[in-house]
Amino acid sequence: MAARGVGLLTHLPLRAQRSQVLRPIHRLLSCPGTVAADARKEEQSSGSAETGSEDRTPKKRFSEVQKERREQAQRSVLIHFPNKISEKKFLKYLSQHGPINNHFFYESFGLYAVVEFCQKESVASLQSVTRTPSMGTEAAIPFRSRCFHLKLKNASNQTSEQSCITRSNQSPPSSKKLFELLCDAESIDDQLNTLLKEFQLTEENTKLRYFTCSLIEDIAAAYFPDCAVRPFGSSVNGFGKLGCDLDMFLDLDEIGKFSDHKTLGNFLMEFQVKNVPSERIATQKILSVIGECLDHFGPGCVGVQKILNARCPLVRFSHQASGFQCDLTTNNRIALKSSELLYIYGALDSRVRALVFSIRCWARAHSLTSSIPGAWITNFSLTMMVIFFLQKRSPPILPTLDYLKSLADAEDKCIIEGHNCTFVCDLNRIKPSGNTETLELLLKEFFEYFGNFAFNKNSINIRQGKEQNKPEPSPLHIQNPFETSLNISKNVSQSQLQKFVDLARESAWILHQEVNGHPSPSSKLWGLAALLLPSVAKNVSQTKRKKKKPASERVKNLLESIKSSSTENSTNTNGTRTVNTQT
Ligand code: GTP
Ligand code: MG
Repeated sequence: MAARGVGLLTHLPLRAQRSQVLRPIHRLLSCPGTVAADARKEEQSSGSAETGSEDRTPKKRFSEVQKERREQAQRSVLIHFPNKISEKKFLKYLSQHGPINNHFFYESFGLYAVVEFCQKESVASLQSVTRTPSMGTEAAIPFRSRCFHLKLKNASNQTSEQSCITRSNQSPPSSKKLFELLCDAESIDDQLNTLLKEFQLTEENTKLRYFTCSLIEDIAAAYFPDCAVRPFGSSVNGFGKLGCDLDMFLDLDEIGKFSDHKTLGNFLMEFQVKNVPSERIATQKILSVIGECLDHFGPGCVGVQKILNARCPLVRFSHQASGFQCDLTTNNRIALKSSELLYIYGALDSRVRALVFSIRCWARAHSLTSSIPGAWITNFSLTMMVIFFLQKRSPPILPTLDYLKSLADAEDKCIIEGHNCTFVCDLNRIKPSGNTETLELLLKEFFEYFGNFAFNKNSINIRQGKEQNKPEPSPLHIQNPFETSLNISKNVSQSQLQKFVDLARESAWILHQEVNGHPSPSSKLWGLAALLLPSVAKNVSQTKRKKKKPASERVKNLLESIKSSSTENSTNTNGTRTVNTQT
């Protein structure tokens, strides 16, 4: 996943000045991240951003959000149209097919509109009056999708009444903009919340993700009429950044469910099917055919690659109209369940998403993560590390997975491929944390905690919320929450882990200097901005390399001394920062 916008902060003007008065920010930015109405409600309810005292508005279950979004997507169409158009006329023209629930415009190789009708029949009505273009020398495949081109019959008539169309932004802020926003913030807590606000998926971007899945579902449905294509991963778990990939899986389980209803009387009816030697081969065959369909018939599906020999076979492609890089898998219900778990953790406390976004951006800025598969830490692993860290606070900010399992009722029971994936699905049944630590403190202590973590012997385990002995010798061991014998970070090399540890120690050191009134030499880059700047981290490590002890050891010693004197330290739990003038 690409975290555009944080990689190249080095040559930016140092215009923004740090505010002298550091005030607490009471802004609630936490929300399940998928339903705009919920997000708006939470932004309005001020006063609880920095504490565990959360907004008590009932939060939707993951399955409810998925269902609602899927239905919206199935009633929607995508229209590419010329720049010179009157929005009013455009909507009037479309409403001949039925009332429109909502719409938005965005730019991606041209101007597009996503229009959501109130009824599904309107889509069929629009398709019935749409023609397949004649292509001159080329030939068109007459595939009737929900993606259209709108052409003007009389361009001059339209331009005179052209309205100013507001385009929804689908990209993260530029490095320069982000840097300015961070430096203009009033406290480190404000910086973390600003970063979250700027990078999180917008309502429109989320809609576009569900819509893109439903377009792929239309294609797969030619073979498997009752299938569903569901988004998972960061598109739906609350931790997605603008620009992140779109993970989707072809769910064929609905087909199986259907047959349950037909087992009436003394007979059992089964389909005649083709057998293959294993589940994996079945998956490969299905994905291979769907990959071919996307390549040959899917409007705007380009660069289709069938990566069928991977541990989890997939089809990767770009969807031009939405601009998403898509990964399509099948048989991936555990990953969907992981997404639900992360959604719950992200929605439980407003600090979780802010911290995860900042750590992910920090990791990307220092090339600890990459969009290319390799020996790096993944965003998924980083999220697990933050969750684990928050489970270890006193009092804990997040409950353990075992606790969430203990709250589950019969309806929540979920066994997938023999793995117990049960946990409570109703967020409103989980008691909010009484912990009131600030984001600034949590950020600093995250770096200290993992800067000193005994990775050589301990495993990270969110199921129990405590370190366990490593069952195997991989440098980094993070237990897969559901397939508990697996390590989600098995790919991480010792050198990548060491890089993470060194950077965590350096970042803790930078933040500690700030808290004690010793900002970094380039003092206009403060707080999170200083941490995201690769050159700052490099300078710090270069300075340290000149001295005798290895950087990591000295920073470790320093951290030990910070810990022992932490009670004298200057961060209050209400988010205000005081400067120690004696140092
Ligand atoms: P970004 O795409 O980087 O924003 O984050 P992501 O959470 O979407 O990660 P990614 O696209 O790599 O993976 C998508 C989802 O697959 C994750 O959210 C997890 O649910 C699941 N997943 C990823 N890596 C692993 C892994 O190593 N083990 C398991 N069990 N699941 C994984
Ligand atoms: Mg992803």
